[in-house]
Amino acid sequence: MNLPRRKLVVEDLTLGHWSRRSESFSVACDGLGFDVAENEFVAIVGPSGCGKTTFLTALAGLVPVSSGRLELNGKQIEGPAPDRSLVFQQASLFPWRNVVANIEFGLKAQKRLDAHGRARVAELVELVGLAGKEDTYPRELSGGMSQRVNLARALATDPDLLLLDEPFSALDAQTRELMQEELTRIWQADSAGSGKTAVFVTHDVPEAVFLADRVAVFSSGPAHLVEMVDIDLPRPRSRETKKSPEFQSLHDYILGLVMNQIQPGRRAIDHDSNAPAVG
Ligand SMILES: Nc1ncnc2c1ncn2[C@@H]1O[C@H](COP(=O)(O)OP(=O)(O)OP(=O)(O)O)[C@@H](O)[C@H]1O
Ligand SMILES: [Mg+2]
Repeated sequence: MNLPRRKLVVEDLTLGHWSRRSESFSVACDGLGFDVAENEFVAIVGPSGCGKTTFLTALAGLVPVSSGRLELNGKQIEGPAPDRSLVFQQASLFPWRNVVANIEFGLKAQKRLDAHGRARVAELVELVGLAGKEDTYPRELSGGMSQRVNLARALATDPDLLLLDEPFSALDAQTRELMQEELTRIWQADSAGSGKTAVFVTHDVPEAVFLADRVAVFSSGPAHLVEMVDIDLPRPRSRETKKSPEFQSLHDYILGLVMNQIQPGRRAIDHDSNAPAVG
């Protein structure tokens, strides 16, 4: 990819806080560094508890930077702002608002719910496959549908940076696969979005490889970058992509890197003898 890698700059980043319980400085990320380019989709994988959510929360401006650089478009991230949207595992929709009112929420809060805003919401309802469900309330939606609303709500404000923390992990396996396919489709079709840069945290290595342009492998906590792996699989990607030897090889390589953080020295199952050796 020939895009400049400087939209998001993470440099020698430390995130920590004083823990009263242990009376010590608890560190979630230490010496973390990488760049993300405009329109790039970066997935983060790493051991449980290594600091992925803390990092994403810092990108959202909800956790202060202890030291190092965390910059979006050349400006240090210092707090929450409408240029970033955060999507969590649980859809957290407003139960008293219908689908459209939930999707409109961010635009309304930003006083941008004009004719253009309403057209954008209508377009997103179509895009996430919820046409006909506009007046439905969250209690009548399945988990997959709720997460579609959640995604549409995050996209409605056209954020410069979309932050997703295991957004599909509460879904059943089949719905999860469908949502992955939907997300790549939405990502490609959503030309109205001003910027389509995303940071996506997941435990699921196939999901990371399927969705991302690059996969960042985090170390066991406190997290630093073990390796940034280029996912040079062609787009558009489909279910067939997951069956290709290239996909399998990238999957095995990344899984090996993660397993090595969890149990140093141990290799992941070697499906493909051509897979690069685990570092
Ligand atoms: N602001 C903070 N500064 C320092 N440490 C923090 C902060 N917030 C949380 N932590 C600690 O950082 C560690 C990492 O937690 P975090 O939730 O980020 O991990 P994670 O990689 O998202 O884990 P999981 O994969 O299980 O979701 C935890 O021990 C947590 O208590
Ligand atoms: Mg987490």
